[in-house]
Amino acid sequence: MIYTQGKLCSLAVFASETEDFDARIRWYAEQINLGFTTQHLYTGSEPMSLDDLRSRLEAERKAGDIHFGIESPAGVFIGTTGLHSFRWVYRSAEFRILIADRDAIGKGIGAEATWLCVNYGFERLNLNRVWLGVSAHNERAWRCYEKVGFTLEGTLRQELYVRGGYSDARRYSMLRTEWEALCIKRSSLAPDGSGQAGSGRTLPTPMPGHTEP
Ligand SMILES: CC(C)(COP(=O)(O)OP(=O)(O)OC[C@H]1O[C@@H](n2cnc3c(N)ncnc32)[C@H](O)[C@@H]1OP(=O)(O)O)[C@@H](O)C(=O)NCCC(=O)NCCS
Repeated sequence: MIYTQGKLCSLAVFASETEDFDARIRWYAEQINLGFTTQHLYTGSEPMSLDDLRSRLEAERKAGDIHFGIESPAGVFIGTTGLHSFRWVYRSAEFRILIADRDAIGKGIGAEATWLCVNYGFERLNLNRVWLGVSAHNERAWRCYEKVGFTLEGTLRQELYVRGGYSDARRYSMLRTEWEALCIKRSSLAPDGSGQAGSGRTLPTPMPGHTEP
């Protein structure tokens, strides 16, 4: 089920009832095992097994984390994105993304999916702050986040161990006031001034299985 739609991709519900869920998480696990993310750290399973991944996703979903599948306009699964590590008192959450289809990398899809997911966090969940961590070596990723409008907060020295060496981690965030300013900017750039063409605002479709806080 499509939740929110952009020009290059859409975000769809990603849960065990999703069609082809097992095929999709197999793909996802392969990318994790190839080292494109450090998400194996969350289960300690390396290489990550499908059972471990399925259990982790299910446990996260039950804990209230948001998982979206990123789909092409033709409905082909491209990757996942979502919001995690919720701190409701502070109204903050962590953003994560993984484009699993290597052919889809570097075409602007990551930036659009990031914007759509961040929109969901601020508009639908009323967050005040969305943050993320990324390896300093992953320049494509942090360039993508900067392009969307995230602000660099600082560097955690040798925070990560990636492919045989320590790597600094860069910490980014976007505040609600900054997101609002970006929405106004994107809306003024939209051809009809409606705010729709450039903003990718969420459709009023309920998320099955997700309990609002
Ligand atoms: C990180 C990721 C989400 C970015 O999505 P994407 O669709 O590839 O990124 P975009 O095309 O929207 O933007 C990438 C930006 O980085 C730049 N870029 C692309 N390749 C690059 C490279 N090899 N080195 C430096 N910058 C690069 C592009 O120029 C682009 O900026 P521009 O449009 O201003 O020119 C995606 O590549 C991905 O999922 N990678 C694998 C997993 C991963 O790294 N996840 C993030 C963990 S924090």
